[in-house]
Amino acid sequence: MREGYEGTGPGAITPDGCAVELYTRLSVGEEPDIVSAAVPAGARILELGSGVGRVTHPLLERGFTITAVDESAEMLERVRGARTICGPIEDLDLGETFDVVMLASFLVHAGDVEVRRGLLKTCARHVAEDGCVLIQREGPDYHTNVPRERLDPTGFTIRIVSAEPVGDGVDSIHAEYVFPDATWTQTFLARPLTKEQFEEALGDAGLRVDRYLTEDGMWVRAVKG
Ligand SMILES: C[S@@+](CC[C@H](N)C(=O)[O-])C[C@H]1O[C@@H](n2cnc3c(N)ncnc32)[C@H](O)[C@@H]1O
Repeated sequence: MREGYEGTGPGAITPDGCAVELYTRLSVGEEPDIVSAAVPAGARILELGSGVGRVTHPLLERGFTITAVDESAEMLERVRGARTICGPIEDLDLGETFDVVMLASFLVHAGDVEVRRGLLKTCARHVAEDGCVLIQREGPDYHTNVPRERLDPTGFTIRIVSAEPVGDGVDSIHAEYVFPDATWTQTFLARPLTKEQFEEALGDAGLRVDRYLTEDGMWVRAVKG
């Protein structure tokens, strides 16, 4: 387990506290639409932190070719139809480039600045000269609107219970996923980033914002340079 990260509930738990079975139950949202609208048809995508393939599978159905990376073998076992690579994203060096590199699920908000730098450098190292990096950021009130909860239409409740400062600008986030037959929790470290801090972090990795893809600024298309 990564320090500051924890998960509880049935089944395997990843080093960042995610429950494998939980992710098999979560349905996909608008992600495939956002990605499809931002990249060329049939693009070769490197998906970083793919989990069980919640987003991978709908993208494969749309005709993209995907290499899925995750440090959890138990997560990757559930991925079908994509090349899979098991290991930390920070250390990835495949010696090849992709039309699109995806870093979703707020991974860019890693509590550890060195990990964040590593993640973004991996994005820069693997994106083709004329390719793009798609990054998903937290919404603006992610750390302040707590506690909050949402009843998912598929019949479970997601609750962000607390966001407690643990120093150096990092919060420990505690989340609960309550299903009729099971409950999972995840505790993880997240560093809020203003737009300026986010853009500076991109710049440090040799990337820059091409455009914000959604009005809330949560999805970003970045390019080299
Ligand atoms: C919150 S889950 C999201 C999975 C998937 N992106 C989705 O939206 O369903 C985050 C995933 O990223 C993986 N992960 C987190 N940090 C990682 C790292 N530094 N290197 C490799 N995998 C990582 C975890 O194992 C987990 O499967």
